[in-house]
Amino acid sequence: MDTELSRIGVSLPENLLEKFDVIIKNRGYSSRSEGIRDAIRGYIRYYDWMSSIEGDRAATITLAYNHHQKGIEDTLNNIQHKYLDIIRSSVHIHMENDTCVEVIILKGEAGKIREIYENIVKNKGIQHVKLDTINPEEI
Ligand code: NI
Repeated sequence: MDTELSRIGVSLPENLLEKFDVIIKNRGYSSRSEGIRDAIRGYIRYYDWMSSIEGDRAATITLAYNHHQKGIEDTLNNIQHKYLDIIRSSVHIHMENDTCVEVIILKGEAGKIREIYENIVKNKGIQHVKLDTINPEEI
């Protein structure tokens, strides 16, 4: 169990905080801090899982982004052109006025798949990125 607590200040968009508050209320957390600690643990678990995948994998990366964000479409395009060898297909749908959703289908070395995810997730305008993989040895 964690022993010492550190205090941090975080700036969040108001609508994000409102949504978070609804969730922690529905889940019965006693405080915002408790909900944030749990969310960070989940973030770390996901990162650890991503770091652990290896070998040849089939994968999907699902992303949503605000297409009004300056440069985002060029950036995503450049990333996908850089990994032609493992990106097999992609589907793009225009979801709402501001939001585009894309699913990228890949097959290749796990480290490279992870690299693509990391190159996507850090960009401004990205609202969601989810990686899912299939290990052919586990089927
Ligand atoms: Ni679109």
